[in-house]
Amino acid sequence: MLNMSENKVVHYLKDYQAPDFAVADINLTFSLEDAYATVLNRMTVVPRQADKPCVLDGSAELLQIVLNGKSLCPHEYAVADEKLIIHAVPDSEFVLEITTKLYPAQNKTLMGLYESGDNLYTQNEPEGFRKITYYFDRPDVMSQFTTTIIGDKQRYPVMLSNGNLIDSGELDNGRHWVCWRDPFAKPSYLFALVAGQLAVLEGSFTTRSGKEVALKFYTRPEDRAKAGFALESLKHAMQWDEDRFNLEYDLNIFMVVAVSDFNMGAMENKGLNIFNTKYVLASSDTATDADFEAIEGVIGHEYFHNWTGNRVTCRDWFQLSLKEGLTVFRDQEFSADRASRAVRRIHNVRVLRSMQFAEDAGPMAHPVRPASYEEMNNFYTLTVYEKGAEVVRMYHTLLGEAGFQKGMQLYFQRHDGQAVTCDDFRAAMADANGVNLEQFALWYSQAGTPQIKAHGEYDAGNRTFSLHLQQYIPPTPDMADKQPMVIPVKVGLLGRDGTSVVFRLADTDAVVEETVLVFNQAQQTFVFHDVAQEVVPSLLRGFSAPVRLDYPYSDADLMLLLAHDSDSFARWEAAQTLYRRAVAANVVALEANQPAPHHAELAEAITAALNADIDPAYKAVLLQVPTEAELWEDAQSINPELYVRARQALLQDLAASMEDTLTHWRTWADTQEQNSKHAAPQEYHPDLAGVRSLRNILLQWGVQASAQVLQTIASEYTQRATNMTHEFGMLSAINHLSDDKRDELLNQFAQRHAHDDLVMDKYFVLIGSSQRADTLQQVQAALQHPAFSLENPNKVRSLLGSFSRNIQHFHAADGSGYRFIAEHILRIDGFNPQVASRLVQAFNLYGRLEPQRKALMAEQLQRIQQHEGLSKDSREIVDKILR
Ligand code: ARG
Ligand code: ZN
Repeated sequence: MLNMSENKVVHYLKDYQAPDFAVADINLTFSLEDAYATVLNRMTVVPRQADKPCVLDGSAELLQIVLNGKSLCPHEYAVADEKLIIHAVPDSEFVLEITTKLYPAQNKTLMGLYESGDNLYTQNEPEGFRKITYYFDRPDVMSQFTTTIIGDKQRYPVMLSNGNLIDSGELDNGRHWVCWRDPFAKPSYLFALVAGQLAVLEGSFTTRSGKEVALKFYTRPEDRAKAGFALESLKHAMQWDEDRFNLEYDLNIFMVVAVSDFNMGAMENKGLNIFNTKYVLASSDTATDADFEAIEGVIGHEYFHNWTGNRVTCRDWFQLSLKEGLTVFRDQEFSADRASRAVRRIHNVRVLRSMQFAEDAGPMAHPVRPASYEEMNNFYTLTVYEKGAEVVRMYHTLLGEAGFQKGMQLYFQRHDGQAVTCDDFRAAMADANGVNLEQFALWYSQAGTPQIKAHGEYDAGNRTFSLHLQQYIPPTPDMADKQPMVIPVKVGLLGRDGTSVVFRLADTDAVVEETVLVFNQAQQTFVFHDVAQEVVPSLLRGFSAPVRLDYPYSDADLMLLLAHDSDSFARWEAAQTLYRRAVAANVVALEANQPAPHHAELAEAITAALNADIDPAYKAVLLQVPTEAELWEDAQSINPELYVRARQALLQDLAASMEDTLTHWRTWADTQEQNSKHAAPQEYHPDLAGVRSLRNILLQWGVQASAQVLQTIASEYTQRATNMTHEFGMLSAINHLSDDKRDELLNQFAQRHAHDDLVMDKYFVLIGSSQRADTLQQVQAALQHPAFSLENPNKVRSLLGSFSRNIQHFHAADGSGYRFIAEHILRIDGFNPQVASRLVQAFNLYGRLEPQRKALMAEQLQRIQQHEGLSKDSREIVDKILR
């Protein structure tokens, strides 16, 4: 513990300095040998100022350095702390040739060049390129890359890099070579190389200016047929970016490579995207409808990066949200335009509130643009991505679609080919619309979830409704005092009969049904005029800002909003608030050792909502009870298990009162699917996905209501299991039951899909997330399963990740869950710090736990902290949790 602050390098945004050198061009030659690879990096370096030492980033084994044709002697350079310093370089352009030697088969970090199966892949964002060669490995150094790859024809028949294939040829000894050239200057993090035995699925897309783009999906040969949906998704994404954003693809080829060992979801390398297999491969018997939707979203995301990320990139890694927040916003809009906008929005909000709000309320809280970091990999967070997307969405809400698009146009006009900042983006939005967005900058610099306290009153004499808003931004470990932010609050008013009530705002003549209030002071009152009757306000419609809002609604008000609100988010939110209140009441009762109360009125309101004329996917989300993390929000001294029990008690109570309704709609869903007009109803289609999602959540509720549902599932299982959404839905519904039938069906599932890597991930998720009493034992046994491997990030996330989110078992009162996860973090940290440090964040709740669990968690956190050789990735997290 003593040395915990030693060797710690903290990087600060305020220290940014422009690079001392530019790189005019870079030529890489990879020679792939049996057990290693050599890389010759020949670059033309241009000093931007005289007399600066030449400092390159790198950690690979260094074989040789040649400067302007002359080999350097060891005294002419120094290598330390992942830097290469060349003491004296010319004042004008010079050529540097650096040779390194790599061992991709031994590289289990999955950063830089690594082996998976027998093939080679790269992952360079943010700082993987320095594991390949010595370079100015920072996003504001952009250069044109030419890449030659030499390898054995049998072992590496396919050899890919960015841009266009410009030449290739045969060599002696069964070897061949290829040369790729990317005409667009790019930073090193967008460099990619792939080599190996890969099948290809091809398609094409004609851009609106008539250019034909070759689309190529590379997979293991046996997976080729499963890439079809991803290929179609790519075409939709290309079309959508032209239609909605006026953006056309810029190369003649777009490649996607699927790899099963991958730290993240996917990577937008220029012209050569590399994807986790999970986001490429799907067929309806191995992937759920949710998987299909995730594929469409991630394919869109990476494709959209070509403009928002690659053509305009980040000046430094503090600006990550410049490309990620914007690109998540774009992929969310793409998915929403494809289908089910309302339900997609609710899904995104749910993820944000259960995960990003938790991040904001914990030890890792950081602004959308972090002010400092130790390990950049730790900042690929929900805050940078999801809250970052909400920040972009707020520009859209404030400026409207046309204003937002004007801002985008100016952004590209000003910055195409540059590496820029979040301020540059904000300036483009402001200037294109002639508005002042100074205060908006606080969304990038202040962490924490703003909280709004609201109340309102109707004045019948003046026919006004006054809405009083007060904002508070809680302190976070990085910042105590905060400034009021600009918060768009979208509002409508409902009469007591549920109809929309029109109003007029001061200083205008316009009579409207809805408005966006610009709430930008600590407290503010907004007066609605010409309001004909007493009203219930519908607030934060569409979740117009990433905040918590509290209004003193009566339960009756909420039931009115649930029954009638024309805004689908606000309507859903009314149900969420009712659920939250009911669980809170259960928590109070259980804490006092009383039975949880009966919630008859809520059951009636939910029944009425289910019976209303709304689409099935929306009914399904209405049945989602808030997750535990949403329920405890920013509470202190949390006993997690209490929330599990309180939530469970509510589900049981509601399900028991609603049994007939649940059965009715389940039967309805079955007929919908049977009588579907779709030719292949088992295939993914948004309409059927909605029906199936309703059926699956009804099954989950049904299992709470009656033991009979397990029997039904068991008897129908085989016939329905031809579709993975059904199969996984049935298993999820019975996954918590102690009945032997559950184990029997799960074992069958594992046997039947033993050969399918991605389906086995689902098996491990079920094992890791079960509430059964024997879950820890089952997880321990699963570690020995032949399909499991600690070296494969998908497996770790499926089994250990899901266990670490299993509230009941991770937070077991005897500390067994904490000990188990800590042990495995230490095993993984030795070879893959990035995956290990994600798991460390399971302990984020530390400071807010009740004393006994807190003490048990402290033991494990200290054990991690004291571990010799702990990675800087995990160290940053554990130090922040314990500070
Ligand atoms: N830029 C990728 C994306 O589309 C994520 C890459 C993150 N990589 C990492 N090693 N942290 O979101
Ligand atoms: Zn991204």
